[in-house]
Amino acid sequence: MRQVNIGSASKFADPGRKVVACERFEVAVFKLDGEFFAYLNQCPHMGGPACQGKMIAKVEEIIAEDRTSKGMMFSKTKMHVVCPWHGYEFDIRTGVHPGNPRAQLRKIKIAVSGDDVIIELPDVGEHAKQRAEPT
Ligand code: FES
Repeated sequence: MRQVNIGSASKFADPGRKVVACERFEVAVFKLDGEFFAYLNQCPHMGGPACQGKMIAKVEEIIAEDRTSKGMMFSKTKMHVVCPWHGYEFDIRTGVHPGNPRAQLRKIKIAVSGDDVIIELPDVGEHAKQRAEPT
């Protein structure tokens, strides 16, 4: 595994996203409420650029005590990214699809050292293995 400095933490928009190409990988780095998250930019559905889609608040249905729907609203705490190919959504904080926990973005280790945002690239062999296992 190799560490790569992808830039200054203080210059990152919040909420924000940056997709970087490092060797054979495309990695998406997100910043939400001061926290950083990173994933391979590869959708578990069919390999699309999942992390380059729209960033939107999760849509939640409000259920009353009598189990009737009171309509939909945007979450105040959960943010999703929507794969531009077929619309799978992933929680930016976890990388998990809200309706299918088996569909997950591949996490990339990330840390902030001083003001530097550092990601840790996986081994090339691991990347090839992931590509062979769509959900
Ligand atoms: S490739 Fe992402 S939803 Fe199909």
